[in-house]
Order: sequence, then structure tokens, then C-alpha cells
Amino acid sequence: MINLGTLNFNDPIIIPSGIIPDVKKVIQDICTKYKPSAITTKTLTKNPLSPHNPPTILKFHDNCYINAIGLGNPGMTFINDLHIGCKLFISIGGKSVQEIKEVAEFAQNKADLLEINISSPNRKGYGASLANDVYKIVKDVKGSVSKPVFVKLGPWDNILEIAGKALEAGADGLTLINTLKGLLIDVESLEPILTYETGGISGKCIYPLSLRIISEVYKEYEPSIIGVGGVFSYKEVIGLMSVGAKLVGIGTAIIDKGYDIINEIRRDLDLYLNQKGLKLEDIIGKAVKR
Ligand SMILES: Cc1cc2nc3c(=O)[nH]c(=O)nc-3n(C[C@H](O)[C@H](O)[C@H](O)COP(=O)(O)O)c2cc1C
Repeated sequence: MINLGTLNFNDPIIIPSGIIPDVKKVIQDICTKYKPSAITTKTLTKNPLSPHNPPTILKFHDNCYINAIGLGNPGMTFINDLHIGCKLFISIGGKSVQEIKEVAEFAQNKADLLEINISSPNRKGYGASLANDVYKIVKDVKGSVSKPVFVKLGPWDNILEIAGKALEAGADGLTLINTLKGLLIDVESLEPILTYETGGISGKCIYPLSLRIISEVYKEYEPSIIGVGGVFSYKEVIGLMSVGAKLVGIGTAIIDKGYDIINEIRRDLDLYLNQKGLKLEDIIGKAVKR
């Protein structure tokens, strides 16, 4: 059993933000059929936002993607009438402290956990553009909601400073990591391939980065962590848990391989634990030397 504050989980596998389409029936069906411990919504803003023009997502190497959807989302009222059979983590965003607070207040009744996205690299004024306001954002949100509040951060050089401010302001935990900003060029036209030019790199290519960031943050603060980044098999689940993650998100692997990968990873994880005679709780933080 894994405890994340007052929430309990039998299994560490969740689906992170931006992976499941914004279609209520699809979210409900995935929940019933694959039973992830939680599903995280696309980052929701107060009003709907249109995605950037295609191409918005590209596979550039085996198991590695770059995307610039640009936080396109149906707006916060999407959660009205959303009822699912697994825990619901609601990812919230906005272009100001005030907007993020409003979305948090609106979403809290439906959410088991609120995740503040101040790390998406794909839309000016949103996501990572607000990382320096982290203390005020978290303080204001925590002051106005009663649900657990996690903050999603990126693979930044000043990660310890930003993580420290989020925790000091009262965050209940951190989701690490969001995508890493990158660029792809078309060698025929000599122009960026993505319409937004830059995009966020995800998938296997960022796995060593997520391991390193989670490890550094866990070593410094030992917070509750939802680990995300490059999980394609039970080995990466074990890896991220061994450096401090309590729950682990499977993102790009679902886009690339389909939802069945959830069952595959869960089965292999159980086999690993049985063979080693270990419980999930035994693994958390084991690889981090203090
Ligand atoms: C197509 C796509 C859309 C995403 N949208 C969001 C989003 O709206 N909000 C957010 O916090 N993260 C978003 N992410 C980031 C993922 O939740 C995750 O942090 C990242 O992809 C790393 O995990 P992965 O390597 O398992 O994909 C998105 C990722 C992808 C690939």
C-alpha cells in the first residue's frame, strides 16, 4: 500500500496529464478497462484554449517524441459531469496567479488531487512562464482549497530552488518531470518542423533526466513525488521509485504502444516484486544516498 497524504494506492501506476483525449467516455472506459490508480486530466484553464496548428506531435526516434499541443484544452467546465471509477487528478493551469487559483477552486470538488502545471514549455505566458511565481501560486491555491496540491515541475537547472519554494509555500508534493524544451529542423526546407517551432521532448530519451531530477529533489527535501518521464517497462517504474517516486506515470509509452502497456507493466512489476520478495514501499528512495 502506498500512501500519499490521505490518499492510498495499491498500485503505483497512473496516467499523467495530456495523454488521454479530452473525451469523457474515453476517460471513463480507460479507467474501467485498465484500472490505473489515477488518471490526470489534460491541463485545464479557465476558458478553452485552441491547440497550436499541426504538426503538434512527432516521433523523432524509437520511443521518443516531441510535442507542442500548446495546452489546447476544453476549459475547466470539462469536468462537469465527469465521473470515473478511479482517482481523478486534475491538472490546472492559467496565465496568472489569479486564474490558476480560480481553476483550482472550481476543480477541487471533483479532484482527488490538484496538480498545478507551471512547467509546460509549449505556450507563452502559461506553464513554465510562471515558474518564478511558484511561491505565490502555491500559497494562494493552498489557502483556498482543501484537496492535496501537487506542483508539476520541469527538468530545470534551478530545480532545487523552485522545488524548495513550492514546498515552503505548502505544496503536498511534486510531479517530476514535465517535458524538456527541444527543436527539430526539416533538412529539406531548413525550417522548424513544429508549427510552434519548439516543443517538449518526452519518452525514453528523457528517462535518465527524470531519474536524475527526482533523485536530486528527493535527496534534498524527501517530498511525496509522482515520477514521470520515459517509463516504458517495469524497469523504469522501479528506477523512478528507487530514487523517491511514490506513484509513477506512463505517458508517451501509451501514445506509442497503446493502453495495453499498462497491464504489461503491472504484470512484470508484480513478477519482479514476488521474485525479490519485496513490497513497493521497500523500493521508494532506496537508490538515493543521503
Ligand atoms: C502529447 C502530450 C501532451 C502533454 N500535455 C501535458 C499537459 O497538458 N500538462 C502537463 O502537465 N503535462 C503534459 N504532458 C507531459 C506529460 O504529462 C509527461 O510529464 C511527459 O510527457 C513525460 O512523461 P513521458 O515520457 O512518460 O511521456 C504532455 C505530454 C505529451 C506527450
